[in-house]
Amino acid sequence: MLVGEKVTLSVIKADIGGWPGHSRVHPQLVETAEEILGRARGEGTIIDFYVATCGDDLQLIMTHKKGVDSPEVHGLAWDAFKAATEVAKELGLYGAGQDLLRDAFSGNVRGMGPGVAEMEITLRKSEPVVTFHMDKTEPGAFNLPIFRMFADPFNTAGLVIDPKMHMGFRFEVWDILKHRRVILNTPEELYDLLALIGAKSRYVIKRVYPKEGHSISKDEPVAVVSTEKLYEVAGEYVGKDDPVAIVRAQGGLPALGEVLEPFAFPHLVSGWMRGSHNGPVMPVPMHQANPTRFDGPPRVVALGWQISPRGELVGPVDLFDDPAFDHARRKAVEIAEYMRRHGPFEPHRLPMEEMEYTTLPGVLERLEERFEDIE
Ligand code: 13P
Ligand code: 13P
Ligand code: MG
Ligand code: MG
Repeated sequence: MLVGEKVTLSVIKADIGGWPGHSRVHPQLVETAEEILGRARGEGTIIDFYVATCGDDLQLIMTHKKGVDSPEVHGLAWDAFKAATEVAKELGLYGAGQDLLRDAFSGNVRGMGPGVAEMEITLRKSEPVVTFHMDKTEPGAFNLPIFRMFADPFNTAGLVIDPKMHMGFRFEVWDILKHRRVILNTPEELYDLLALIGAKSRYVIKRVYPKEGHSISKDEPVAVVSTEKLYEVAGEYVGKDDPVAIVRAQGGLPALGEVLEPFAFPHLVSGWMRGSHNGPVMPVPMHQANPTRFDGPPRVVALGWQISPRGELVGPVDLFDDPAFDHARRKAVEIAEYMRRHGPFEPHRLPMEEMEYTTLPGVLERLEERFEDIE
C-alpha cells in the first residue's frame, strides 16, 4: 500500500509520425509503445502505464516510484519513442521521428524534443487526477484553463464555499524568453498573475501549489504543465510544442467538474496550421482528436483517473465524451469558420514576433534586397 507515500505520475509525449500528414497516430505505434512499457511494468521499472493519443502525438502516462526527471523512466520513454519511430519509418508515416531531436539519450528527455509533465505526490487515500492532452497548440494554451480552475471563483465554486480551498493557491509562472520564474499568490496577487499569463506566448503557468495550511504540503504540486519549446531545442520550426498537463482534483482542490469547466469555453490558442495560426481549442473525446480541417482546429482531450492505493492507474475515463460539451464543440466549429475567413491575415495568422519561429522568415529573406528606404 502506497497511501501516504511518494508516487510519481509522468506524462511524456512526442510526435513521432503522423497518419496521414499531422492528423493522427497509427495504431501500430501505440502497440509498439505498449509492448515496451508492458515489459518495463513486468520488470518493476514502472508501476502502471497507459498509452493514449491526441492528434499526431503519442502520450505515455506512467506511475512509478522513481521521482521526477528519473533517468530510468525518461530512458524508458525514449526507448518507446525510438522503437515506435522505427515502425513509423517502415510505414512511411509523415514526419517520422519529428520530435526526437537528438540522437543519443543523455539521462533526461527534457531538451530532446518530447514534452514532459511530471509530479511526485504523497498519495491520498483517494487520488482523482486528470491528464490533459492538446494537439496543434502550445504550452500557453493551458494558462487560461488552469487559471480558471485554481483562481477564478466564477469557475470554481469551491474557492468561495469550501473552507479547504478558500485560502487560494500559489502559481509558478515561467518567463520562457528569459528563462526565469516567479511564484504568485492568489487571490492577493490575482491581477499581477493575469498581467503576466495573459501574454501566453511568453509567460506560462508551470505549476500550481497549495498554500500553507492545506492538507497537501505547500511544496507538492497540484497541477503541472509541459513547457518544452521545440524551436529552442531545434533552432528552427519543426512542429508545435503540443502540450500536456496533470491536474489533481477533490479534497480541497477543484472538484472534477471544476477542473473540466474551463473547457466549456473554446478559447483562442496559437499553433493551428503550420504552427502559425490562432484558433479555438475544441474539447473532444480521444476518438475525435483527429484534427483534419486546416490541420485543426486545435484539440484537447481530458482523461480521468483514480490512482489506486497500489499506485495503479484506474482508467482512463474519456471525460469530454459528454454531450454537455457539444455546445463548446459547436462553438469551436463556428469560431474556426470565422477565423478561417481571414485567410493569411492577422489575427488568424500569428503576430510577426511569433512568426519568427515558423517558415515565414525564409520567405521574407528573399524580399529583403528589394526594399528601398523611404525619405
Ligand atoms: P470534496 O470536498 O470531497 O472534493 O467534494 C466536493 C465535490 O465533489 C462537490 O462537487
Ligand atoms: P504538429 O505540431 O501537430 O506536428 O502539427 C504541425 C503542423 O504544421 C500542422 O499544420
Ligand atoms: Mg506532426
Ligand atoms: Mg501534434
